[in-house]
Amino acid sequence: MTTKKIKVGIIFGGRSGEHEVSFCSASSIVKAMDKDKYTVVPIGITKEGRWISPQDSELALQSGKIEGKNTVILLNDPSGKALVHIDNHQRLDKSSALERLDVIFPVLHGPYGEDGTVQGLLELATIPYVGAGVAASAISMDKDLMKIIFQQKGLPILKWMTIKRKEWQKDEEKILALIQNGFEYPLFVKPTNLGSSVGITKVHEKEELEKAIDLASSYDRKILIEEGLEGAREIECGVLGNDEPRASVVGEVKPAGEFYDYDSKYIDKETQLIVPADLPDEVSQKVQRIALCAFKAVDAAGMARVDFFVSKKENKIYLSEINTIPGFTSVSMYPRLWEASGISYPDLIDQLIQLAIERHRDKNQNKISYESKLLDT
Ligand SMILES: Nc1ncnc2c1ncn2[C@@H]1O[C@H](COP(=O)(O)OP(=O)(O)O)[C@@H](O)[C@H]1O
Ligand SMILES: [Mg+2]
Repeated sequence: MTTKKIKVGIIFGGRSGEHEVSFCSASSIVKAMDKDKYTVVPIGITKEGRWISPQDSELALQSGKIEGKNTVILLNDPSGKALVHIDNHQRLDKSSALERLDVIFPVLHGPYGEDGTVQGLLELATIPYVGAGVAASAISMDKDLMKIIFQQKGLPILKWMTIKRKEWQKDEEKILALIQNGFEYPLFVKPTNLGSSVGITKVHEKEELEKAIDLASSYDRKILIEEGLEGAREIECGVLGNDEPRASVVGEVKPAGEFYDYDSKYIDKETQLIVPADLPDEVSQKVQRIALCAFKAVDAAGMARVDFFVSKKENKIYLSEINTIPGFTSVSMYPRLWEASGISYPDLIDQLIQLAIERHRDKNQNKISYESKLLDT
C-alpha cells in the first residue's frame, strides 16, 4: 500500500536582515527531507516581500539568490489551502494550476516571518505550520514583551529598560541621564524586535551611548537597554514539542568576537559551538528546566532555542531570550543539540511536521460559531 505524500511548503528569504541566513536554513532542510514521504514546495520571498513561484524558488535555493519573476500569493481563504500564480499585472494567472499545500514550514528568521506576521496569514488560510503560533511568535520577537512575561513567571533575567524612539528624539539628555543613573557599564543597547545581533552595541562607557541608541533606533521604534554581563558563558538549549515539550542537551557558543555579533554568528570561522557544554550536571539540568518554563511562558509550540548567560565562577544562570525559528542548517546549534540528544536532522524535521499537524488538529476542535440571538432582535 502506498501512502499519500505530504506536500510541504518551505517558506524562506523574506523582508528581514536575516534573509540570507534563512536561505542556508531552507536549503539544508530541503536537502534532508525524505522525498518518499514529502513533496517539497519551496516558496522564496524577496527582500521586497514578493512571493516567488515554487519553480523559481527551487532555482533560487540552488543559486543562493532570488531572481525569478513568477509570483504567487497564498490564498487567505481556508477552503483553498493553496498558492495561486499571478501575472506581471498582479492579476490571477488562470492558466496555472493551484499549488495545494498540506503543511508549511516557515523558515524565516526575524521580522516578517518569525514575528507572527506570516503565522497570522497561515492561521487565516487554515494550513498547519511548523513552530509557534501568532502570539508566541510576536512575544518572542519582542525582547521587551518577552522579558515582561519571563519576569512575571519569576524567571531569572537581567535588568533592563525600554525607551521609545520618539522619546529619544524629543529629549536625548533626559534619556541619557536616566540610563546613566540606572545602569553600570558595560551595557547593551538593542532594537527590541530584531535578531542576529543586527543593530546591537556593547557600550563600554558613557561616550559610546548616544551612537548606540541612534543605531538601535534606526532599526526599531522601541530600544532596549540591558545590564551587560562581562565574560559570561553563552549557553543554549533546544525545546521540542507542543503541550508536553522536551529539552535537549545543553550547548555552548564561544563567539570569535567580543560578543556574539553578526560576524561571529555567520562569518567568523573561529566561533565554536560546543555540544554538550562542559557544565556540572545540576547546572545543565537547571538550564533545561528554565528553558521549558520559558517555552511554556510564551505559549510556544513545535520548537524553540532558548539562550542563556551563565557566569563563569558561580555558574549563575540568566535567561537571555527565546528564538522560535532558530538557525536550522544541519550544523546550526538547534539541530546539533537534538542530534546529541538522539534525534537526527531528518527525524527532527519529521517530528516538527507531525507536531504542526497535531497542533492544527487540536485547534480544529475549537468551536468557531456561536448561536447568537443578536441578529434576531
Ligand atoms: N546583557 C548582555 N550581557 C552580555 N552579553 C550580551 C548581553 N546581551 C547581548 N549580549 C551579546 O549579544 C549577543 C546578541 O544579543 P541577543 O539579545 O541574543 O540578540 P539577538 O536576538 O540579535 O541574538 C548575545 O549572544 C551576546 O553575545
Ligand atoms: Mg541571541
